[in-house]
Amino acid sequence: MITSYLNAQKEINKYIVKNKTKKVFVLSGKNSYFKSGAKKFMHQILDKDNTLIYLKKSYFPELNELNKIISTINKFKPNLIIAIGGGSVIDYAKIANVLNRSNNIKKNIINSNFKDIKKNIKLIAIPTTAGSGAEVTPSAVIYINKIKYSVEDETIKPDFYFLIPELINNSSNKLKASAGFDAISQSLESIISLRSNSKSLDYAKQSLKYSLKHFIPFLKNPNFDNTSRMSIAANLSGCAISISKTTAPHALSYPFTSLFGISHGHAVSLTLEKFLKFNFEKMHLSKSKFSLKKRYEIIFKLTKTKNISDLLNYLKRMKKQAKLQDNFADLGIDLNRDYSKLISGVNLLRLKNNPILIKQDDLKSILFNQ
Ligand SMILES: [Fe+2]
Repeated sequence: MITSYLNAQKEINKYIVKNKTKKVFVLSGKNSYFKSGAKKFMHQILDKDNTLIYLKKSYFPELNELNKIISTINKFKPNLIIAIGGGSVIDYAKIANVLNRSNNIKKNIINSNFKDIKKNIKLIAIPTTAGSGAEVTPSAVIYINKIKYSVEDETIKPDFYFLIPELINNSSNKLKASAGFDAISQSLESIISLRSNSKSLDYAKQSLKYSLKHFIPFLKNPNFDNTSRMSIAANLSGCAISISKTTAPHALSYPFTSLFGISHGHAVSLTLEKFLKFNFEKMHLSKSKFSLKKRYEIIFKLTKTKNISDLLNYLKRMKKQAKLQDNFADLGIDLNRDYSKLISGVNLLRLKNNPILIKQDDLKSILFNQ
């Protein structure tokens, strides 16, 4: 699953030669392109004259920049797109590559009208964070007027991906903590999601075996081994949620990102324990075909915890070690003032995958219980 730096370069070169690829469009982030080592990686293999590099500026994927990326692609007419960056970069590339022939991109996204979408150009994804698993998921996030939408279709999956640990070690600890926790939360949510099955359960369990062991060492003493394991964990969490989708912590996370600029994994971490507790306490109301109790037992076993309060403490400790702040007031969020704004941006589709039905009143009490 992991590819060495040199091997990935060789493979990309081989692809370019074999397919007589003339023009390559590279999409990356304005900081991450330099900091991750992506620039050096790409420069060693690409011919400058036939390459166009676009460095995205927005903090999270949003429509205006997507339109710019699409018009750049349409003018340049590449034969290959390489997305090298974090989840936002890969999501931009995934969406741009299927909607670049659309006459009304905004309308397509708002109405979830993807029945005619077609992938136009081959896409290679190279993540520079151990996080979302965007390189394997059939969905991508895009914000329009600070509201989160997703493009969901098998077509948008990248054609190839490379997990290269050397490109992942260089981001800030803040970013690594957020991205790593996203992978952990995705797998935990996947285990109890209504849409989970035995295959997604295997992916999620395997992902957590790596991430729970290597997340903190990856932050405190990063090395090739723990970076590789976190990369694989993120990828497996992507495989798990491709089947099961995510649940309530993800649904609630998007307004925290768009309204308060909190990075994705960090935003997810704000409510993970709250929903784990809610789902556990209301287990008898579960709508799942599987035994929710047994799924929690799997989580207890993976985290080596004995019961729900032990599990919640375990996650709280992990967040503290990773310096993921979860006090709303300290993050500039005043729930009394911001509650209705936050709730209006909640993704109801993702709430539907939660094993327990969540009503408006539940949401309020879950959020206000710090
Ligand atoms: Fe996520």
